[in-house]
Amino acid sequence: MKKWTTLGSAQIPNNGGTLTLAQRDAEFSIRLSGIRGELMNSRVHGSEEALAQLGCARLGEATGARVLVGGMGMGFTLAATLDIVAPSAVVTVAELIPEVIEWNRGPLGECAGQPLQDPRTRVHIGDVAELIAATEDGFDSVLLDVDNGPEGLTHSDNQWLYSLAGLRAIHRALSGEGTLAVWSAGPDPLFVIRLKKTGFHTSVRSVRARPGKGSHHTIFLAKKGAAL
Ligand SMILES: C[S@@+](CC[C@H](N)C(=O)[O-])C[C@H]1O[C@@H](n2cnc3c(N)ncnc32)[C@H](O)[C@@H]1O
Repeated sequence: MKKWTTLGSAQIPNNGGTLTLAQRDAEFSIRLSGIRGELMNSRVHGSEEALAQLGCARLGEATGARVLVGGMGMGFTLAATLDIVAPSAVVTVAELIPEVIEWNRGPLGECAGQPLQDPRTRVHIGDVAELIAATEDGFDSVLLDVDNGPEGLTHSDNQWLYSLAGLRAIHRALSGEGTLAVWSAGPDPLFVIRLKKTGFHTSVRSVRARPGKGSHHTIFLAKKGAAL
């Protein structure tokens, strides 16, 4: 089998470790130092797409919908969001690591069909938490896939996003009937309790890593306003 070629690496702020991008034929892998295995592989993206499909299901053809996607990764959630929302929508992707955006403008871009080139896409290089904290009634959907679940993995400061304080900030950042969707490797009953305490109507979905097969992942859906 052909060997992996390293295409680039990037430091995560606050000693968060190193992200490494590697390629083997048409397959790409992003690894995070300190965890066993991969953060992402370009052949496995069913649940990243499900995050967008579930989190934006309500938006349909809504005019001028505003969606926040945190983070970029290989762009599958961003591309799936663009497949759903109308031509008038604006989709902001927040990515902490500038190199990840560069990789997606370069060799990684083809994996998800070049979603950064879509005129509806806006790029925010920085911490999605800071963007959320600075926003009020700014997004109709917030889609979070920045860790392995509702606990800081890639960036220890991410822990705040899943705390009561972080969830209240997300609630404020959403529009009146807005939806938060969070990707997770597995269930987390305590996170569901915090979502409910924040005032969200919640639902937990199990999705597959590949169409109809592969690992089971979890999407937490949290809706502001009327029930789901
Ligand atoms: C698992 S990947 C996302 C995969 C993505 N859903 C996809 O479809 O390819 C996680 C991404 O979140 C980024 N990230 C981690 N913490 C972040 C933060 N606080 N703000 C913005 N991006 C962050 C990482 O650099 C990485 O690119």
